[in-house]
Amino acid sequence: MTSEAAGAVPLTEQQRKETLERFRRHREAWQQNPALRALYADWYGRIGSELRKAPPGRKLELGSGPGFAREFIPDLELTDLVRAEWHDHELSADSLPFENGSVGALVLFDVLHHLSSPRAFFSEASRVLAPGGLVILCEPYIGPLSYPVYKFLHEEPVRMFKDPLHQEMERTKDPFDANQAIPTLLFGPYRAGFERTFPELRIDKVERLAGLSYPVSGGFSRGPLVPQWLFRGLVAAEAKLPKAAFSLFGFRMLAVLEKR
Ligand SMILES: C[S@@+](CC[C@H](N)C(=O)[O-])C[C@H]1O[C@@H](n2cnc3c(N)ncnc32)[C@H](O)[C@@H]1O
Repeated sequence: MTSEAAGAVPLTEQQRKETLERFRRHREAWQQNPALRALYADWYGRIGSELRKAPPGRKLELGSGPGFAREFIPDLELTDLVRAEWHDHELSADSLPFENGSVGALVLFDVLHHLSSPRAFFSEASRVLAPGGLVILCEPYIGPLSYPVYKFLHEEPVRMFKDPLHQEMERTKDPFDANQAIPTLLFGPYRAGFERTFPELRIDKVERLAGLSYPVSGGFSRGPLVPQWLFRGLVAAEAKLPKAAFSLFGFRMLAVLEKR
């Protein structure tokens, strides 16, 4: 494994510096935001449960950024397009430096919607995964309640109605460029196209999660919008909702794909 990401988009020194600075700001915001940490604990807990079903082989997180996974899943190998001191490797999701069939699981937490070519990532995933190997994704879900919040109150764009397997962002893009709609499109309106293109990747699960608790946590830019006791009440109330309710009220999705 080299320190340079094989086949990676050539980033400028300035982009690398800004990316590392962003990781640092997100780590600081996360430390100061108990609501956000509680949500991440729940989501990484779900990812950990899925990982227990993976076959033997390396378990890697791609696009680990600030590296929160380390707290919840210590044995996951952390990687990113821009390596920070807490990452194990520097690599790009669209060119994975692993042997065919050698990987047990790939975790992407808020990364798929940042990839310049989701198609290149899924081809690489299907090449490197062992039979039964997993791709575990935790991503934004654009639904009726979340759409206006993501569209008008979040800095990243939402571009609906673009086939994610045929949209390519600029090759020299910044690692934080995004289309928040990619996961929703891929496992919603464009699912049949995905299944035709990658028949070897069986879609095992697409679950919508987290209602207003997510925006109310304030994310990384604002800090919690309500006192902690009220936030906990909201999370408890959401836990009583039937799963189907999150198709309407959800802000997040957990998707699991299995290599046949
Ligand atoms: C929104 S951040 C998510 C970081 C982290 N997973 C988290 O949830 O806190 C997106 C991450 O994806 C990384 N990234 C973007 N393009 C990538 C690529 N082609 N390969 C690997 N990582 C990439 C960025 O550097 C950044 O760390």
